[in-house]
Amino acid sequence: MARIEIAPVADFPEGSGLRVEVGEHRVAVFKVGESIYALGDRCSHAEASLAEGETFDDEVECPRHGAAFSLATGKALTLPATEAVATYDVEVDDGTVYLKIEEES
Ligand code: FES
Repeated sequence: MARIEIAPVADFPEGSGLRVEVGEHRVAVFKVGESIYALGDRCSHAEASLAEGETFDDEVECPRHGAAFSLATGKALTLPATEAVATYDVEVDDGTVYLKIEEES
């Protein structure tokens, strides 16, 4: 498991995400209140960037067609998306956000 430094917590926007690319993974990382979440950045409907979506409580709304996804589970909550997106583990250490991701073999 690789631990990738993303950014200081203070640099995260409220209400949208940061896009991070790690190898073949494109990840959208969100800060909502005191919580940090990381989802696959490609909407399961038509691959729009979820990092560009708006967050509402613990959901993010896809900027293209408006499907909502749970930030905690990646589950698609509203149409037109029906499939979940991946979730990733995150960790905050000394004010910096790290993404924990499976290393590619
Ligand atoms: S691309 Fe996200 S809802 Fe269509």
